[in-house]
Parts: sequence; C-alpha cells; structure tokens
Amino acid sequence: MILVTGATGTVGREVLRLLAGRGVPLRAVTRDPARLSSVKTDVEVVGADFEAPETLRDAVAGVEGVFLLTAPGAWVPEHDLAMINAARVGGVRKVVKLSAVGGRSSTDDGGTMPAHWHAPGEQALAGSGLAWTALRPSSFASNALRWADAIQAGQPVPNMTGTGTQGVVDPRDVAEVAVEALLGAEHDGMALTLTGPDLVSVPDQVALLSEVLARPISTVEIPLEAARMQMLASGLDPSVVDVAVRGSQLVRDGGNAVVTNDVHRVLGRPARPFRTWALDHRGAFLDTEETARAAR
Ligand SMILES: NC(=O)c1ccc[n+]([C@@H]2O[C@H](COP(=O)([O-])OP(=O)(O)OC[C@H]3O[C@@H](n4cnc5c(N)ncnc54)[C@H](OP(=O)(O)O)[C@@H]3O)[C@@H](O)[C@H]2O)c1
Repeated sequence: MILVTGATGTVGREVLRLLAGRGVPLRAVTRDPARLSSVKTDVEVVGADFEAPETLRDAVAGVEGVFLLTAPGAWVPEHDLAMINAARVGGVRKVVKLSAVGGRSSTDDGGTMPAHWHAPGEQALAGSGLAWTALRPSSFASNALRWADAIQAGQPVPNMTGTGTQGVVDPRDVAEVAVEALLGAEHDGMALTLTGPDLVSVPDQVALLSEVLARPISTVEIPLEAARMQMLASGLDPSVVDVAVRGSQLVRDGGNAVVTNDVHRVLGRPARPFRTWALDHRGAFLDTEETARAAR
C-alpha cells in the first residue's frame, strides 16, 4: 500500500493516476475527501491534515511507502516533520519527498528559495532510518496556467524575472520520477534535481505559447515591490509572498539557471520541454470563442 499526500494537487494527482495504472494498492490524502470523489473506487480516500497528527497516524496504518507533498509556505518544515514522524512510528518503509531545487546545499541566498522550506524535512528523512528519496524540481511548467486569464483577455503576461532563465520542468515528469522512486530501490538515499531539458526565461515561455496558440502574446515587466503589494493584497500568506519576491530576484540574477540530466537518467528518455507542456495544455489558454471553434 502506498499513501499519496497532496493527492488533489498538481503532482500528487498525477502520482495517484500513474500508481493506479500500475495496479498498486493506494490510499490518498486530502483535507476534504469530497475533492477526490471522482477517483477510481479502488483508491482508499482518507481525510487527514498535517496539522492534526492523529489523522496522520491513521493514514499510515498498513502503509509501506509514502509520497510526501506539503503545500508551499513557512509551515513546510512542521508539516514534513509531522508526516515523517508518523511514518517512522507507523512502520512505513520508504518516504519519497517532493522538495525543491536548491536543496540543502543552498545556504548562501538568505533563505530566499522554497528549498529552505524543504531542508529540515530532507534532513529529518536522512536521519530517520527510513528509506528515502528527495525530489528537487525546478519551477513547474504548470505555473504558466497563472497567465491563462491575461492571455485569454489579450493582455500581456506579467513578468517578475526579466530574462533570467530556469530549467522549467513538466510536473508529469516529476510525478513519473516519484513513481519510479516509490516502486524501486535504485534511487534510495538520493536527492534528484529535476529540470526540463533546457533553460527558458518567461519571455521564452511566452514566445513558445504564442507559437503554439498561433497568436502574438507580449510580456510586461512588473517591478518586484509592486508585485509584492499585489500579492499581499490578493490575500497570499506573507511567507509565500516573501519567497516569491526574493526568489524572483534570484532568478532574474541568473541564480536558478540549472539544468540536470536526472529526469532522463531515471526515466530513460529526455525530459519534456516546455513546448510539449504548452501543446498538451493549449486549451487552458483559449478564450470561449476559440474553444468553441476548436471543438467544431
Ligand atoms: N510550483 C512550483 O513551481 C514548484 C517547484 C518546485 C517545488 N515545488 C513544491 O511542490 C509542492 C507542491 O506545491 P504546489 O504549488 O504544486 O501545490 P499543490 O500540490 O498543487 O497543492 C497543495 C496540496 O497540498 C495539500 N495540502 C495543503 N495543506 C494541507 C494540510 N494542512 N494537510 C494535508 N494536505 C494539505 C492540498 O490538498 P487538500 O487541499 O485537498 O487538502 C493539495 O493537494 C510544494 O512543496 C512546493 O514547494 C513547487
């Protein structure tokens, strides 16, 4: 039995789908089981919350492997440690943790990257006696969905990172690597840095979307302090806003220009480029008229 946490999220949902396809007995965690009412009936859905340790104890009963995904924010260390502790006490054999690029070695950027939220969990796993794999993905291609409203409205895409590039990764590749790490022993005790095959900037991504949608799309530079005010006004947690702003500055300065071969090494095929993600998700960027035309 494998327990998938974050099962309603971008990567967790895909991990659940892939494991189900391999015939693995599954239990899926969400705080609101109604959100998983449409998943296959042979997946056991449990209501559990990283904030409520007793629910985690019940969730790991009889489980051999855990896919550990905690939602981004300053609470990541506390949530990771709660789940790792429940896994250890509950007799789980292996935990595959979704972390973030930068990892534990990233100590020189003043706590500006999501990797700093994940470092305590990675350290706890390494000292837990459990088998473990840490997955450190770069920025997800699916973050581009945040631009869908602007693109549908014919407005420019807001750009906080200038011409800074990142090894933008397809979350489907992250999920496939997670499944390999959960089902095999080859990647135990390893931290894998998961990136796409090449470095792309926001203007590069927008140019690719423009090509895929066959329509011009522009970008507009957003000063980081203006972005901070906008994000705070929209109700985002200040810890998330702070990391978004400082992380954007780091990317802008070339500090996250990292590409690795880890996806290829684990999956035996190249990582999907951003263009593939854009082609497969082009429907999300079409306005209603275009969607109706595409359906005819
Ligand atoms: N986005 C990126 O570019 C990127 C890059 C590298 C690493 N990461 C890492 O990827 C992870 C996922 O981030 P994401 O933005 O893609 O989010 P997501 O997985 O799409 O959504 C967060 C998930 O966490 C669950 N969750 C939230 N609070 C919970 C709680 N208290 N107890 C149990 N489950 C809870 C939610 O489930 P319910 O609401 O159903 O309970 C949801 O499934 C983060 O750790 C992030 O640091 C993201």
